[in-house]
Amino acid sequence: MGQKPTVVVGRKLPEAVETRLERDYEPRLNPTDKVYSSDELITLCQGADAILPCHTEHLSAAVIARLPVSIKAICNFSVGVDHVDLKAAKARGIVVTNTPDVLSDATAETAMLLMLGAARRAAEGERMMRRGEWKDWSPSFMVGIGVTGKRLGIIGMGRVGHVFAERARGFRMEIHYYNRRRLDPTLEHGARYHATVEALLPYCQFLSIHCPATSETRGLLNAERLRLLPKGAVVVNTARGAIVDDEALIAALTSGHVAAAGLDVFNNEPTFHPGFRDLWNTFLLPHVGSATHETRDAMGFRALDNLDAIFAGRAPRDRVA
Ligand code: 8YV
Repeated sequence: MGQKPTVVVGRKLPEAVETRLERDYEPRLNPTDKVYSSDELITLCQGADAILPCHTEHLSAAVIARLPVSIKAICNFSVGVDHVDLKAAKARGIVVTNTPDVLSDATAETAMLLMLGAARRAAEGERMMRRGEWKDWSPSFMVGIGVTGKRLGIIGMGRVGHVFAERARGFRMEIHYYNRRRLDPTLEHGARYHATVEALLPYCQFLSIHCPATSETRGLLNAERLRLLPKGAVVVNTARGAIVDDEALIAALTSGHVAAAGLDVFNNEPTFHPGFRDLWNTFLLPHVGSATHETRDAMGFRALDNLDAIFAGRAPRDRVA
């Protein structure tokens, strides 16, 4: 057998994944889990064959242009690939893959947590308990919004959107969705398709975002579209912060037009807009949508399956460029 390919690993990965990496590759691991600067990443890539990055490694066109010619593949430990300039990678003949499917359940669980938490004022209650500020109970105390039987709008009925809709049916929610293409009616399970986001929004007592961040979806949930939501809607985002116009959502939460928001993803993570922090009606998580032990292992193995295929001369299952 020839020399093992050298793989630059963006972040510290689960033990089982790093064990498999060490068995099959020459990995350049990141035991301290620091976030590499572009210069550090490029330096680490010298003489390497592939990169296994997370969404924290920004592979812009400028960075890709500076990668050594030895780099043949970028096998992401993520389903989202907005941190990679796919056009630039393709132009250089670098194969790019992602890790779909394996994080759909975990991300849908997080969306459910955020939806319930935002609607039922979980963050506010939790803060109150921890600060020792719970003084009384009354029928009007901490009254929130019921979820059961309400209308839920989903933007992006892909893998995660699909699982989330399935879970929401457990709360007898009426599902509406927008997707670039209508699903085959046999896969809709009664969900109602809307051909535009604008047509969907007036139905959304709850809105959950599950589309990727692309040039078409950046800033999609802006002031104009937020106004189309019914008053008192709840907004949930586990996809990407870039899909939301922060100022517009903060204004809608401040006025009460949007009653509450459950957010796991933000523009400029981890330094997100402080306006979200200052609002009482936000339920915030630090991008933990897929953060379960099972899912992290599965993401790593899926990225390695893609790497294995590429270096065995086979087509990787999850090629995106
Ligand atoms: C991951 C995600 O934790 O996979 C994605 O696109 O947003 C997250 O669930 C992260 O991106 C891993 O790199």
